[in-house]
Amino acid sequence: MLSWDDEVKQPAQAPRTPNLQPQLQPAFGQSNAALNPALMAGNGEQVDTTRRVNAADKRIINGHTDVNQLVPFKYKWAWDKYLAGCANHWMPQEINMQRDIELWKNPNGLTEDERRLVKRNLGFFVTADSLAANNIVLGTYRHITAPECRQYLLRQAFEEAIHTHAYQYIVESLGLDEAEIFNAYHEVASIRDKDEFLIPFIDTLTDPEFKTGTMENDQKLLKSLIVFACIMEGLFFYVGFTQILALGRQNKMMGAAEQYQYILRDESMHCNFGIDLINTVKMENPHLWTPEFRDEIKSLFLRAVELEYRYAEDTMPRGVLGLNATMFKGYLRFIANRRAQQIGLDPLFAQEENPFPWMSEMIDLKKERNFFETRVIEYQTGGALSWE
Ligand SMILES: [Fe+2]
Ligand SMILES: [Fe+2]
Repeated sequence: MLSWDDEVKQPAQAPRTPNLQPQLQPAFGQSNAALNPALMAGNGEQVDTTRRVNAADKRIINGHTDVNQLVPFKYKWAWDKYLAGCANHWMPQEINMQRDIELWKNPNGLTEDERRLVKRNLGFFVTADSLAANNIVLGTYRHITAPECRQYLLRQAFEEAIHTHAYQYIVESLGLDEAEIFNAYHEVASIRDKDEFLIPFIDTLTDPEFKTGTMENDQKLLKSLIVFACIMEGLFFYVGFTQILALGRQNKMMGAAEQYQYILRDESMHCNFGIDLINTVKMENPHLWTPEFRDEIKSLFLRAVELEYRYAEDTMPRGVLGLNATMFKGYLRFIANRRAQQIGLDPLFAQEENPFPWMSEMIDLKKERNFFETRVIEYQTGGALSWE
């Protein structure tokens, strides 16, 4: 049985300079990478990938099996999540935004605090999912050698595009100032600080020179996976999701709230996939999980909770919708504890109650149970088609 607690010394890594622009990628076409999956996997090793695949030989990172051969399955959980993601397919334009538009245009429809909340909320999300997509497409995908996981990442990348589409659709529907909202991650400190926290970890994986296969780099990869799944998708989205869903619960911005509900369901699966990925990498590479590494991860969680709390304060300076920033302090500690425990760390804070138990119901949304009772196209029909 592999242990996650083996101790191996590892020096702390210097942070990279934050950069909101994705780095240029190496052109895979310059080599015979398509026929040499080991090169595509980023570990640079020359191995015989022409022989038939034995599932037992597959590895999440630094694998030597052909990444183009999806089967035989080893990581069935990743394939199952890919299927579940496809079954949850939705598109933003399916959701009727008319009532949101009327409410937004009505001078008495929303308070100034509610309008500020919506704009700051979108100010974070309109670019956040592009960062997420960059991280997957330009980074993570290259370093993962399990084709089942790559398959899920491809689905996830498309879902990130749908999310960016959804936020753009809301901005367009409400007639918001696009330049103001889309440039908010440069102009609003509470948003910029969150992104600048994330960027060094995205840069690690998108760096054309970065290759797994050493203790140092495998720990960098694992750290970036944790930051992305547990902190970005698992924590930094939650103040924003709760705010818009709270509006929806008060019959305000129902279309936007429904969009967010579908996004929340997708993100919840992204987060769970990431956690399964992280735990499998840990299990296959127990030497990476050193005490120093765990301490670093804990300090990243603490910093992230601080940044997300500041974002809560900035979006709700006076309290709005029966919510206030202080309630979010408890919520963020509750979520951070849960994420830490999901990857095998001790809780970071004393036991915290969930101040928003209704959020759990939102995450468990089933397609057929449409909370806001607007139209949804059913995509789960392909399997029932008859060709005769
Ligand atoms: Fe997303
Ligand atoms: Fe995501």
